Amino acid sequence: MRAGCSRTLGLLLMLMLTALPPGAGQPVSDVCATCHVHATCHQIEGKSACICNYGFVGNGRTHCQDKDECQIGARKICGNHTLCHNTHGSFYCVCLDGFRASNNDQKFIPNDGTNCTDIDECEEPGLCGYNARCINTEGSYECYCNDGYKLENGERSFHPNRSSDSCKEIRCGSPPEMKHGYIVGNYSLVPGSTVHYECEEGFYSDEGKSSYCNENEVWEPATLSCKGVDCGVPPSVLNAHQAFVSGSTYGSEVTYSCVHGYFIASGNHTAVCNARGQWDGADLVCKEIDCGKPLLIPHTEVIWDNSTTLLSRVFYKCKEGYYFSGGRNFSQCTLDQKWENITYICKEEELFSNLTVFNETCVKWQMRTGRLGVQKTYMFHILGQRWDEKTFSEDVILNITTSEDNPKVCLDLNSGSNYVVNITAISSMNVPVSVSVAVQTKVKEAFNNVLIFNDTCLKWQRNVRGADTEDRYLFHVQGQRWYQKEFLHEMTFSLTTRKQAPEVCFDLQPGTNYSVNISMVALNFSLLVSMATQITEPPFPDIEFVAAKGSAPLLRLRKAEDRNGPISLYQVIVLPLGLQSTFVCDSFAAATFFSNATDIKGYVAAEFRAKDVADNMSVALGDRHYYGKFYNAPLKLGKEYCVFLRIISEWNKVRTQSCAVWAQIKNSSPTLQYMTAVVLGSVAAVCLILFLSFSAARSYLHRTVHSQPAALACEGVRLSATMDTARASSLVQTENVSML
Ligand SMILES: *[C@@H]1O[C@H](CO)[C@@H](O)[C@H](O)[C@H]1NC(C)=O
Ligand SMILES: *[C@@H]1O[C@H](CO)[C@@H](O)[C@H](O)[C@H]1NC(C)=O
Ligand SMILES: *[C@@H]1O[C@H](CO)[C@@H](O)[C@H](O)[C@H]1NC(C)=O
Ligand SMILES: *[C@@H]1O[C@H](CO)[C@@H](O)[C@H](O)[C@H]1NC(C)=O
Ligand SMILES: *[C@@H]1O[C@H](CO)[C@@H](O)[C@H](O)[C@H]1NC(C)=O
Ligand SMILES: *[C@@H]1O[C@H](CO)[C@@H](O)[C@H](O)[C@H]1NC(C)=O
Ligand SMILES: *[C@@H]1O[C@H](CO)[C@@H](O)[C@H](O)[C@H]1NC(C)=O
Ligand SMILES: *[C@@H]1O[C@H](CO)[C@@H](O)[C@H](O)[C@H]1NC(C)=O
Ligand SMILES: *[C@@H]1O[C@H](CO)[C@@H](O)[C@H](O)[C@H]1NC(C)=O
Ligand SMILES: *[C@@H]1O[C@H](CO)[C@@H](O)[C@H](O)[C@H]1NC(C)=O
Ligand SMILES: *[C@@H]1O[C@H](CO)[C@@H](O)[C@H](O)[C@H]1NC(C)=O
Ligand SMILES: *[C@@H]1O[C@H](CO)[C@@H](O)[C@H](O)[C@H]1NC(C)=O
Repeated sequence: MRAGCSRTLGLLLMLMLTALPPGAGQPVSDVCATCHVHATCHQIEGKSACICNYGFVGNGRTHCQDKDECQIGARKICGNHTLCHNTHGSFYCVCLDGFRASNNDQKFIPNDGTNCTDIDECEEPGLCGYNARCINTEGSYECYCNDGYKLENGERSFHPNRSSDSCKEIRCGSPPEMKHGYIVGNYSLVPGSTVHYECEEGFYSDEGKSSYCNENEVWEPATLSCKGVDCGVPPSVLNAHQAFVSGSTYGSEVTYSCVHGYFIASGNHTAVCNARGQWDGADLVCKEIDCGKPLLIPHTEVIWDNSTTLLSRVFYKCKEGYYFSGGRNFSQCTLDQKWENITYICKEEELFSNLTVFNETCVKWQMRTGRLGVQKTYMFHILGQRWDEKTFSEDVILNITTSEDNPKVCLDLNSGSNYVVNITAISSMNVPVSVSVAVQTKVKEAFNNVLIFNDTCLKWQRNVRGADTEDRYLFHVQGQRWYQKEFLHEMTFSLTTRKQAPEVCFDLQPGTNYSVNISMVALNFSLLVSMATQITEPPFPDIEFVAAKGSAPLLRLRKAEDRNGPISLYQVIVLPLGLQSTFVCDSFAAATFFSNATDIKGYVAAEFRAKDVADNMSVALGDRHYYGKFYNAPLKLGKEYCVFLRIISEWNKVRTQSCAVWAQIKNSSPTLQYMTAVVLGSVAAVCLILFLSFSAARSYLHRTVHSQPAALACEGVRLSATMDTARASSLVQTENVSML
C-alpha cells in the first residue's frame, strides 16, 4: 500500500532576481560621470565619489564587479539548511528540502531574521495512517511500518513520496491440512496464531504441537498427527468362531457363528469396531443344540443312545409282530433343534401275502416278517383230484424251508387235475398259519399235436403223465354241403384209449365239410376240428343206350345225383365210331366241332350247366345250335358215330368226371332220314354196349394222374373200370379249441 507520504511536499522554488533600481538620471559631477555603471555617485562630504553599488565591489569607476556574497561566509549569510544563490549584485537564500523559510517565502534574505526551520512532514495531512508511522527528522522524515506490517523490499523505512513502497500486513497462508484431521475453531493468519485440529472419526491425535504461524509467515508444521484407531483382535465368543473379520480399524466387522452343534440363542452375530477403538456388539450367545425326546412312530421300538445334540440319531425298529414296509429307519437331530420327521412304516406281520399261482403249477407268496435271513419251514399238504374223479387220488405232504422273503415253489403236478394245496407255516407268535390254494393244471396236452391225415383220419398225442391213465373221448361228427342244403351227415361215438398217440378214422362222405368235436367229458374240455372231404367222381350217367340213324337223332338226358360232389356240367361228345376205343373220359382234348382235332378225337357237340338240366330232357343231336360255346353240328350222312355223355363235377379245385356210351349212329343210307330209338335192356343189342365208368379226379394242387384208357367198344358189353386216382390232400383246419 502506498502511504500518503508519497505526497510531494517540495515546491519548485523559482528565484526571481529583483534588480535594484539604477541611479541614472541623477545629476552627477564629472566624477560622477565616471562612475562605473554599477556604481553610484555618492556625495560624501560634498565630494562626489563613485561608490560601487550594493553588491558590487570595485573602485566605482573602472570596475565594479559583483560581489559573491555566497562565497563569503555564505553559510553564515543564509544560515543553516539553506542554499545560497548569488545574483548580479545581490544574493538570496532558499531553504533546503525539508525546510521551510520562517517567513514562508521561497526566497529570503537572511538579514531579516528569516531562517529555515525543519518542516515536520509527519504533520502533513495524509502522511500518517496506511499502516505506518511517520518519524520526522531534520530536513526529512522516515515512514516505518506499523507492527504486523512490513515492507516487501525488506527495507526498514520508506518515503511514500519517493517510492511506491507500502506496508503489507505480515501473515501466513492457508494453514496446512492434517491427514485424517480437520481444522476446528477460528484462527488467524498473523504470525503467532495457531490452528487447532481435530481428527476424523476413527482417528485420534497423539501428543504434539499444533501448527502455528511464525514470523516468516510460514506455518510451522504440527508435530501431532491423526492416527487410525485399532480395535485389535476381536473378542472371542464362547462356542462361536469368527467366521469373518474384515480388519481391526474403525468400522471393521467381525462375524461370529456358533460352532457346530450350537445355535444362536441371542445376540448379534456381528460386532463392529467403533471410533473409540472398541468392538461393539460382541454379545452373541451360542447354546448347544438339544432336540429333546425323539418322535414316536407307531409300532416301533426306539434304539437311542440318549444323545440329543446335533446329528444325533435315533433308530427305529418295528416291534415284534410287525415288519418294515418302507421309509427310513433313523431320524437325525437337525439344526432347528428338531428330530427329522421321517416316515417309517411298520405293518403287521404276514406270513402269506399276495399268494398267487403262476405257470400253472407254481405258487409264490410274500413272507413279511421283517426279520432277514430267518429260515422258515412251510408244510405243503397237496391233495390232487382228476377232473373226472370224485375223490382225491393224490395226497402228499412235503416240507420246504427257505429264508426267502418271496418264496416261489413249483410243484410237480399232473396235468388235467385239480389240486388243493394247503400251506402251513408257524408265525412269530408261534401260531400255525395256513392258506389253501386251488391249482388246476391245464389239459391241453391231452390234445397235443392233433393231425388230420388220409382226409378222414385224426391222430393226436396224449401227454398225460402216467402211462396207465385211460382217457375217454367223445366224438361228435357233423357234415354239411353247401350244394345240398338238406344234407346232414351226423354221427356220435366214443373212444377209450390208453395209447400215447391215439388214431381214429371216420367214415366220411365225399365233398362234405365236417366238423368234429372231440371232448374229454371228464375234463370238461373239447376241441373242434374242421375237415373237408374231397369230391369223388360223379355217379355213372343214367342213360338209355340208343342205336339211331339220321343226322339229328333225339337223345334223352337224365339228371344225375349230387352224390359224391356237386354236378357241374353235362357234355355230349361225338366221336367217329372207329375212334371210340381211344376215348379217354378225363381228356379235355375234345374241343369244338371247328377245331382241327375233330377227326381224330371227336368233338363236344353240346354242354349243359347242371342247373339248366331238367330231368328227362331231350337233346337233338346235330340241330345246328350252340350249347355253351359248342356247336351242335349236323351229323354227316354215311358216317358212323359213337356218342358219349360226360358228367363233370368240379369243387374245391378238384374236377372229376364220369362218362358213358350213350348212342351209336349209323347212317348207311344218306336218304334215310329217320331215327330209331331202341331201348336195350340186354346185351342183345346191335351194338355191344359197354357201360363204362371213367372216373378221374384231377388235382390242381398235386400232380395229375390220368386214368388208363379203358378199352371201349360201342357194343353191348358193360364194363366197369375202377380208376385209381390221386387225391388232393385234405384241407384241415383246427379251430375253436376250447379250454377250461
Ligand atoms: C547553525 O548550526 C550550528 C550547528 O549546527 C549551530 O551551532 C548554530 O547555532 C546555528 N545557528 C543558528 C543561527 O541557529
Ligand atoms: C528563527 O526566526 C524565528 C522568527 O523570526 C525566531 O523566532 C527564531 O528564534 C529563529 N531561530 C533561530 C535559530 O535564530
Ligand atoms: C438313556 O437314559 C435312560 C434313563 O436315563 C437310561 O436308563 C438308559 O440306559 C440310557 N441309555 C443309554 C444308551 O445311555
Ligand atoms: C437301518 O437301516 C439300514 C439299512 O437301511 C441297516 O443297515 C441298519 O442296520 C438299520 N439300523 C437299525 C438300527 O435297524
Ligand atoms: C411329519 O410329517 C407328516 C406328513 O408330512 C405330518 O403330517 C406331521 O405333522 C409331521 N410331524 C411333525 C412332528 O412335523
Ligand atoms: C403282489 O404281487 C404283485 C406282483 O408280484 C405286486 O405287484 C403287488 O404289489 C403285490 N401286492 C402286495 C399287496 O404286496
Ligand atoms: C413256467 O414253467 C416253464 C417250464 O416248467 C418254464 O420254462 C418257465 O420259465 C416258467 N415260467 C415262469 C414265469 O416261471
Ligand atoms: C414237516 O415239518 C413238520 C414240523 O416242522 C413235521 O412235523 C413234519 O413231520 C415234517 N414233515 C415232513 C414230511 O418232513
Ligand atoms: C390246512 O392244514 C391245516 C393243518 O394241517 C389244517 O388245520 C387246515 O384245516 C387245512 N386247511 C384246509 C383248507 O385244508
Ligand atoms: C391212408 O390209409 C391207407 C389205407 O387206408 C394207408 O395205407 C395209408 O398209410 C394211410 N396214410 C397215412 C398217411 O396214414
Ligand atoms: C366248406 O366250408 C368252406 C368254408 O366255410 C366253404 O367254402 C365250402 O363251400 C364248404 N363246403 C361244403 C361242401 O359245404
Ligand atoms: C391243330 O392245330 C394246332 C395249332 O392250332 C396244332 O398244334 C396241331 O398240331 C393241329 N392238329 C392237327 C391234328 O392238325
